[in-house]
Formats: sequence, C-alpha cells, structure tokens
Amino acid sequence: MSASASGPARARLFDLTGRVAVVTGGASGLGEAVARGFAGQGATVVLADRDAERLEAAAARLRADHPDGGGVDARTVDVTDAAAVDACIGAIVAEHGRVDILVNSAGVVALDPVDELSPETWETILSVNLTGTFHACQAAARRMKEAGFGRIVNIASQAAHVALDQHAAYGASKSGLFGLTASLARELGPHGITANTISPTVVMTDLGKQAWDGPHGEAHKEQIPARRFAEPEEVAAAVVYLSSTEAAMVNGADLRIDGGFTIV
Ligand SMILES: NC(=O)c1ccc[n+]([C@@H]2O[C@H](COP(=O)([O-])OP(=O)(O)OC[C@H]3O[C@@H](n4cnc5c(N)ncnc54)[C@H](O)[C@@H]3O)[C@@H](O)[C@H]2O)c1
Repeated sequence: MSASASGPARARLFDLTGRVAVVTGGASGLGEAVARGFAGQGATVVLADRDAERLEAAAARLRADHPDGGGVDARTVDVTDAAAVDACIGAIVAEHGRVDILVNSAGVVALDPVDELSPETWETILSVNLTGTFHACQAAARRMKEAGFGRIVNIASQAAHVALDQHAAYGASKSGLFGLTASLARELGPHGITANTISPTVVMTDLGKQAWDGPHGEAHKEQIPARRFAEPEEVAAAVVYLSSTEAAMVNGADLRIDGGFTIV
C-alpha cells in the first residue's frame, strides 16, 4: 500500500498509526473500550464526554496502558450542544492537525412502557443518541471532507432491529441512526469518507446494567443463540476494523454484534 491522501503506508493490518480518533462517550463502557482499541493500534485518541471526572479517569487509564502510543487527549463536551461540539472538533483539529476517525458512543437509555413515556424522556433520549450523533458527524465531516479521508462509526443497537419492551424512545433513536448514517455514507463516500453503524446486543456497561441487570437480563440471554451478552472488546474490535484503511469499501453498512439475536 503506497502513501496517499488516505495516510502513510501501513505495516500491519488495521494499523492506525498517525490517525487522530475522536470517541464521544469515551469516558465509559464501549467508548473507553473503543479508545483502548485505537490506542493499541497506534492512533492518537481523543475522548469526548460530558462527564469530566470520569473522562479524566478514563484518559489516565489509557495513558498508563499506552505510554508509547500516539497520545491521549480528553475533552469535556455535551453532544446535545451543536455549537460546543463544533468548537470541540475545531479545537481538536487545531491541536492535533486532523480528525480522521469519529466514533459516536455517547448514549443514554431510559425504559418506559410506550403509553407512559413522557415527552421529556423521549426528547432526552433522542437529543443525545440521535441529534447528538448528528452534531458530531456534521462537525467532523466538514473537516474530513477538506482532508479527503474519514471514518465514521455510529453505535446503534439490537433495539434498532427488533422491538424490545419499553424501548420505544431508545429504539427510535437507534433506528434513526440508520437513516443518518446512510445519508452520510452516500454523500461523503466520494470524499474518501465511510460511515457505518454497529448494532450490539447487551454489553454489561453502566448503560447495559441500567436496562438488563436482573432476572429479565438472564432470560434475555436465553433468546440469544450465543447464550451470552457481548464484551466491550468484541465491539471495539469491529470499530477498529471499520476505522481502518482496509475497510475503505465498507460504507453504509450495519454490523450486528448480537450473537445472532436479531436473525430473522
Ligand atoms: N451497553 C449496551 O448494552 C449497549 C448495547 C447496544 C448499544 N449500546 C450503545 O453503545 C453506546 C455506549 O454505551 P455504553 O454501554 O458504553 O454506556 P455507558 O453509560 O457506559 O457510556 C455512555 C457514555 O456516554 C456519555 N454521555 C451521555 N450523554 C452524553 C452527552 N450528552 N454528551 C457527551 N457524552 C454523553 C456518558 O457520560 C458515558 O460516559 C451508547 O450509544 C449505547 O446506546 C450499548
């Protein structure tokens, strides 16, 4: 592979040396695991999260584990604030010179029967999971277009594929990501940018526990052909692949990491 606008020649598969990767929701759970995966492949990693305390703790863990990596940066930002997100991405480009990879992992869940779901809860979930993702995609895409290279990975969910009890707002927010990501893939593809989604089953992060801790979670495992939930590293590995030079022809795809739960 020769040096090009897509980056320097790569020594090994999925090498991300020289790349700058931004992970929203990077202070916790899947976002931190993804950031760890990127750091392991040599990328400079920028964690972006609204929780400043957990953000610094996650960044410190990553720095300790990858002292010789591309570097770890941490930025406090609320993805629901479009202007703040744009300023954050601008500041990252000013400091690191580029944004090659964006992973949208910032997300929230709240479970309510559909006839009891309040407009406020609906709005909160949609504003973080769908509109917040749009803000970050738009801010990053503007810079990626100028550079002629980009990788966007949006974390959807099994709940975007199948109806789950009390998941109306969450499922709608995650299904919305398919429409958003398809448009990104179509419009940005000619500029060397890919956009894809990942749809995991339950992972026992803080968010996963909020929705699935307890007997109903154990019962849910029995509905998954693999008979277990997913691990954060299994999601991170897929994100690393989709963010790599090698995945240039994977655009507008959704990768289910659900042990077969959504097989129809
Ligand atoms: N854990 C699961 O079972 C599961 C399954 C499928 C999809 N997902 C999705 O994966 C993503 C990551 O979830 P997780 O399990 O790691 O959850 P998590 O709660 O461990 O992490 C979510 C992170 O997002 C951050 N965040 C929330 N709102 C934000 C905002 N407005 N601005 C910036 N940051 C914000 C939180 O501070 C937190 O650090 C979410 O989009 C979630 O919907 C999770």
